Amino acid sequence: MSLVDLPLLPLGKGRDLGAERGVECPGDLPAASDPDLVERARAAKAALGERVFVLGHHYQRDEVIEFADVTGDSFKLARDAAARPDAEFIVFCGVHFMAESADILTGPDQKVVLPDLAAGCSMADMARLAQVEDAWDAMADAGIQDQVVPVTYMNSSADIKAFCGRNGGVVCTSSNADVALEWALAQKAHLDAGAKILFLPDQHLGRNTAVLQMGMSLEDCVVWDPLQPGGGLTAQELQNARMILWKGHCSVHGRFSEDVVDELRAKHPGINILVHPECKHEVVLKADLVGSTEFIIKTIEAAEPGTTWAIGTELNLVKRLADAHPDKTIVFLDRNVCYCSTMNRIDLPHLVWAMESLVAGQLVNQITVDPDTERDALVALQRMLDLPGKSHRD
Ligand code: 13P
Ligand code: SF4
Repeated sequence: MSLVDLPLLPLGKGRDLGAERGVECPGDLPAASDPDLVERARAAKAALGERVFVLGHHYQRDEVIEFADVTGDSFKLARDAAARPDAEFIVFCGVHFMAESADILTGPDQKVVLPDLAAGCSMADMARLAQVEDAWDAMADAGIQDQVVPVTYMNSSADIKAFCGRNGGVVCTSSNADVALEWALAQKAHLDAGAKILFLPDQHLGRNTAVLQMGMSLEDCVVWDPLQPGGGLTAQELQNARMILWKGHCSVHGRFSEDVVDELRAKHPGINILVHPECKHEVVLKADLVGSTEFIIKTIEAAEPGTTWAIGTELNLVKRLADAHPDKTIVFLDRNVCYCSTMNRIDLPHLVWAMESLVAGQLVNQITVDPDTERDALVALQRMLDLPGKSHRD
């Protein structure tokens, strides 16, 4: 694959709906300084009434969350979108891959709108279909392809989910990755050679789940680097591995470091360190608790007053938790401000613009997945929704 295939187009250089980011939002947006913005958002939402359902991911800004009908992590929002077949418009305040999943899971007449098309995800961009197909071919050359079940994190483009659907795989989220891995291993339990998993695109979620929840060792895991010939692995390394981790990561959660954990433990004796499984393995090992965004919220809600917490996830959520729980001390697990810049692209001006456009009868920023991709991606998403039981984490 050539570098020009990467979706990192400069802003303002046109639209590419196949890309996770690097696309522009057409039209005139209201000014962020407009004192009437909140009122305009209320009026547009009221005018749309039951026709619109607004979803807000936990990492969204407060000004956007205020207008969300439901909030949740990517798993909950996918379910919530599927549970509202009556809503004509699903306005997705989150990022591109989430809006794609909502389009796949909703009816053909429902329209999913992403208020800013530049709200992509750098992690999702790290796995492109052509790269994954090259890796799959290399697994055939190494004689292991029939042992491998592909598992993709929700944070991936629809065509990667479709690849998993076509090849006997499944989608997972941070709240059910362990259950998805158990399911995947069971699919190949009949093979004497044993099962292997290709985990896309977040190496950290894959490694943390395999080692901390599935009883695998670090030696069972190898990292496939799509920018190296043959993924940077020998056929022998592929044959020996049980987890083939794609070399992708979240630029937000990848920032949390072991030395800040040490620093905060020294500063606040008795502090509890609570992190998301997209954090590096070394950081997760030093934490007290690890879990999805929903797990983090539930843990803080259930915590005793007077307790102290450092949280390693996106800053909008950490700030909201700190504001909602003044009886607990809640600090951010990083020395610097660290928002997800693409999540933050959905701001009140974009939300107002999207909803006012719908009121005026103009459908803007619709996210659609082509029918073939949708069919195969739905297979992998449905396998996830059908997974038995709850995660051991929740
Ligand atoms: P969850 O929503 O699955 O917790 O994932 C976190 C994230 O990074 C979303 O982009
Ligand atoms: Fe992607 Fe990380 Fe932002 Fe989530 S927080 S949208 S994984 S970059």
